[in-house]
Amino acid sequence: MENKINTERNRDLVVGSTRTRALFTVYEWFYDNDHLPMCNRIFQGIPKNHVNTAFAKDVCSANNEEKPYREMIHLGSYNYSGLNGDPRILDAAMSALKKYGLTTSGVRLLNGSTDLHINFEEKLANFLGTQDAITYSSGYAANISVLNALCSEKDVVLSDELNHQSITDGLKLSRATVIKFPHRDINNLNGLLENIPKMQRKFIVTDGIFSMDGDVAILDQIVELAKKHNAFIIVDDAHATAAFGPCGRGTPSYYDVVDEIDILTGSLSKGLPGIGGFAAGSKRSMDLLRYGSNGYIFSASLPPTIPAGLSIALDILENEPEIQTKLHTNENLLREGIKAIGLNVMHSESPIIPILLPNREITFQFAELLYAKNIFVNPICFPAVSRKLSRLRLNASASLSQDDIDESLENIKFVAQKLDLIS
Ligand SMILES: Cc1ncc(COP(=O)(O)O)c(C=O)c1O
Repeated sequence: MENKINTERNRDLVVGSTRTRALFTVYEWFYDNDHLPMCNRIFQGIPKNHVNTAFAKDVCSANNEEKPYREMIHLGSYNYSGLNGDPRILDAAMSALKKYGLTTSGVRLLNGSTDLHINFEEKLANFLGTQDAITYSSGYAANISVLNALCSEKDVVLSDELNHQSITDGLKLSRATVIKFPHRDINNLNGLLENIPKMQRKFIVTDGIFSMDGDVAILDQIVELAKKHNAFIIVDDAHATAAFGPCGRGTPSYYDVVDEIDILTGSLSKGLPGIGGFAAGSKRSMDLLRYGSNGYIFSASLPPTIPAGLSIALDILENEPEIQTKLHTNENLLREGIKAIGLNVMHSESPIIPILLPNREITFQFAELLYAKNIFVNPICFPAVSRKLSRLRLNASASLSQDDIDESLENIKFVAQKLDLIS
């Protein structure tokens, strides 16, 4: 049967919200400028220090004998701890897979909680230093669920302007009055808080590590302000769990303010090599989320393989602090090396290292030239960051070797020269 597409009708669909249209405009720019393949790269195998990747178009057109995949140095993975693929974690997940199957076939509140979920949540809380923790199907779902459940139309929320999209979306659902404060600007935040009546319920919401810039929230000062102005604090530590602070316990542990943070949220798919998200805090607030947050009540629980595998990951992180030492050594080598080349890493102070570039065209050219040299990096442009701040984003990992880093820096320098960004 002939498959006819009614293009007129499809064109009618391209209306959407302002944001949808902005996204679509970016897609059209990728398409018009031949950069679309960079957004459609396909992977095979476990993303460690190296990864096998190919353009989707080459995978689709390859016949059986052709092998479009190439091995690359991976500077674009959230596998900060390098624990993805660790045999001890895989063994635990495999046993759980055989015993429990692929899914719980249920939501947490009804028939989706196994002993593995309960044990993992207890272990996660111990690891983070909180009384209790609960898990969600993603970090995105955790933020949406927590903000929607805890903040209401009667509340004021002060949110760092560079907070993750899941926070923006969660706050929209909550219908709270949201005031964005300039990125990490403590004086400005103080000024805003001073103008809010003392009795008004208020929250300060911030990423722990900012996902595009790689800088860190100034949590000790935020805690002081929260005390002074009687505000609650919610921290999204998606990029810090298993990647920052002692043994990877995150930004509150780094600043030694765990007890002062009301709710910590995070992801289980970055430094921790699984999938899902979490909220952690006091027993009472976790119970409130168990019985009052939509992502816990109305969405399937994590596959049992995840709590089984990640319980082992937490043991490894506790017992092998050298993992974090290696991660931060690698991060510093990369960052200092890039600075020495003469490129701008912004205010990076974590395993996320941006390289700020003049515009998105150069950003994509840079990423493509590195790709040709078998170095995988992610190009980032609007709407993920503002139009004037296009960049490459590199992610350090404990799995990178000294040779990987040397080779990467050599190629970054070569490409920067080729694009006339340095002499
Ligand atoms: C700061 C931040 N919060 C939340 C998330 C969402 O986490 P997940 O990928 O587990 O949904 C991300 C994802 O990259 C993130 O960068």
